[in-house]
Amino acid sequence: MTKKYAQRFKLEWLKDKRFEKWLEKVEGNDYRCFCKYCKCSIIAKVCDILKHSESSKHKRAAKPLSAQRLCLPSDEDWSMRFLGLKDDNGEHLCFTHRGKTRSHQAPFVPVPQDGAVSPAPSGKEVIIPASIGFIGAGNMAQALMNSFLAKGLVEPHLLMASAPSNRNLEKLPSGMRTTNDNNRLVKECDIIFLCVKPHLLTEMIEGLDPLERDHSPLFISVVTGFDICTLEQLLGSLIDAPRVVRTMPNTPCMVGQGCCVYTMGTNTNESDAKVVCSILHSVGYSAEIPEYQMDAACGLAGSGPAYIYTAIEALADGGVKMGLPRHLAHSLAAHTVKGAASMVLQSGKHPAQLKDEVCSPGGTTITAIHSLEKNGFRGALISAVEASANRAKELGNKS
Ligand SMILES: NC(=O)c1ccc[n+]([C@@H]2O[C@H](COP(=O)([O-])OP(=O)(O)OC[C@H]3O[C@@H](n4cnc5c(N)ncnc54)[C@H](OP(=O)(O)O)[C@@H]3O)[C@@H](O)[C@H]2O)c1
Repeated sequence: MTKKYAQRFKLEWLKDKRFEKWLEKVEGNDYRCFCKYCKCSIIAKVCDILKHSESSKHKRAAKPLSAQRLCLPSDEDWSMRFLGLKDDNGEHLCFTHRGKTRSHQAPFVPVPQDGAVSPAPSGKEVIIPASIGFIGAGNMAQALMNSFLAKGLVEPHLLMASAPSNRNLEKLPSGMRTTNDNNRLVKECDIIFLCVKPHLLTEMIEGLDPLERDHSPLFISVVTGFDICTLEQLLGSLIDAPRVVRTMPNTPCMVGQGCCVYTMGTNTNESDAKVVCSILHSVGYSAEIPEYQMDAACGLAGSGPAYIYTAIEALADGGVKMGLPRHLAHSLAAHTVKGAASMVLQSGKHPAQLKDEVCSPGGTTITAIHSLEKNGFRGALISAVEASANRAKELGNKS
């Protein structure tokens, strides 16, 4: 992030009276501020601060506030702890950020939050020697594990999954370890994907035992709506400074054509970032994004396959209505969608330009486009993305 951006974030919230009583500045990090009520760091951007202030967690924490709870360490002291430069006793520490060990004199280099997407590098994935666990073995977990295996990212015996019943565990690839005991999985795995439904996540984490000091797995959540701050707080009951990554994948990961965006948590380091980049690259397209874009990414890519399945089904119905046999109509519809997507990705042209190129004057396609416009096609898709993103936000606020 450029200095200009950092300055803008900093100034925006600092001059806003709404944030006066409960936000603190973090010395040396202009991209984050500290919530005195929830004791967590937030991206120092007005929309993110407002989102945080509306979360039920913040409201809960702010209500019974006692004078003692507001008694925080001095700015300098607290910032040093937040940055990992001082321990809880105020002793100076060395600080590891993204793999670089820094002394407390060294400048802090935060993760960019400027909205710039950083696609994962292309090329062959590295083989991950770590044991990868999945708490929850449903659609999303299966999509991810199948993708890892298909890409040769990990050996089956290094994969493990846990779920309360054997309903899904029985369907998993052979050679994988399975269990009905989440605690066993947490003890045995180095990288742990959290793949349960949002309404079950809190209860599931509360059922886990605290971890041994020498075992600090990397937690990667795929759970819709739960932000880094909440995840770090929940997992903080198991271990100090949990290393957390928030992701939003989609089910085409199953066939190596998925999308997965992610945000690294505050306690992660450079080697975590490399591992996550490599693992998620194996699912298809992946990119690191700022957390405030996560709900929008859910609305577009997380839920998106379902919109396109509906479109394929409807296109096929149109084909059948006009006389095609069902199986041919399905194949034509699916290949048409795949081909159009490949044209957008490979030609680098704007979709509108590609559309214009196939609409000859007075022809069939422009006549059909007119029909789509009259029936609110674009508006329907825009509203679908908006509805899903808003629902993701709601699920997060319920946490
Ligand atoms: N599906 C998508 O397209 C998609 C896309 C992006 C993100 N996500 C996110 O991915 C997560 C999982 O979604 P899904 O579609 O995979 O759900 P799913 O198919 O219903 O699978 C949920 C899994 O969680 C297990 N489970 C339930 N309670 C548990 C507990 N206490 N401990 C351990 N496992 C438990 C279930 O066990 P049983 O096997 O015994 O039922 C099941 O295996 C959700 O948070 C969702 O927001 C999904």
